Amino acid sequence: MRDMQQKECDVLDVQAAESAIVNGMAVEHIVDCLNNHKEENRSSSSFLNYSVLYKKEVDSTNLWAKELARAGAPEGTVVLADAQTAGKGRRGRSWASEGGHSIYMSLILRPKIAPEQASMLTLVMGLSVTQVCNKIPCLGTALGQNNTVDLYGNRKSVKSIVNPDGTINFDGNLLDAKIKWPNDMVISGKKVCGILTEMGMKGTDIDYVIAGIGINVNAAEFPEEICETATSLAIEAGIQLQREEIVAAVLEQISINYKTFLSTGNLKNLIEDYNEVLVNREHEIRVLDPKGEYRGIATGINENGELLVTKEDGTSVAVYAGEVSVRGIYGYV
Ligand code: BTN
Repeated sequence: MRDMQQKECDVLDVQAAESAIVNGMAVEHIVDCLNNHKEENRSSSSFLNYSVLYKKEVDSTNLWAKELARAGAPEGTVVLADAQTAGKGRRGRSWASEGGHSIYMSLILRPKIAPEQASMLTLVMGLSVTQVCNKIPCLGTALGQNNTVDLYGNRKSVKSIVNPDGTINFDGNLLDAKIKWPNDMVISGKKVCGILTEMGMKGTDIDYVIAGIGINVNAAEFPEEICETATSLAIEAGIQLQREEIVAAVLEQISINYKTFLSTGNLKNLIEDYNEVLVNREHEIRVLDPKGEYRGIATGINENGELLVTKEDGTSVAVYAGEVSVRGIYGYV
């Protein structure tokens, strides 16, 4: 470990720490990867000064982060767990959080912005995860699930993997991750990542924002209720991935995008990147508005993160995420 600050969680005893390396995630590896990213980007420090905490199991990393934020933990504090017993999803739903294969993490932010601007942070998070996943090489299923590759560095060695019949597995394709507005990351029309952003207030100001991120990394199967709509990076890429590297890459990307967001207080400088990966763009969608469902063509987001929709009667509306969700005409996307 070099200059990155690392804190050990006080509940980690020696046994738990060992199992963290064997079955869970190695915080030190995350910190090393973060430092490597900094070196690759030739920056002496990332915008967010990260400090990473890990527990083998928690109820919800968002609840844990909230506790820490209330106790004064600084911006950049990241909490991670191998498993969650009460993982929280959006709209009061639960988030399946088995141990051993996925990422459950929450980041404490303390942005000096108006509360109305905070909802845009959720799009910043979704964009960051998507940008990272789109750098993951896609091997297809020929190699099965037993291969491990680095997110970036070892791509050359991936290229050299040859099947018994002489064919090469890696053809240069990368994962094609998209965002279903506002922030679900999808691949092949199925959800891989969900984001739950929560906010704590001090009077009329933001005290803290908790950005909770769940990524299905190496899961091979899903509970029956979501098996039609969920997938994992490993299923889509045909390889097992190191969660630590993905955590570090996502944190680094968040740091970059968060800085850009704060420079204007809106998504002005991120619109282009976001719309490029917006799965709904130029597609017909159903807007599930509690006041009445309607259809239209989604054309992209505006600088406030609202989805611009051209309705069937030709009028345009800017849809705010709050109570509204969107669906494709034939299904989830
Ligand atoms: C969604 O419903 O799409 C949002 C899911 C968010 C899940 C993540 S997992 C890490 C963090 N802790 C939680 O309890 N929820 C979020």
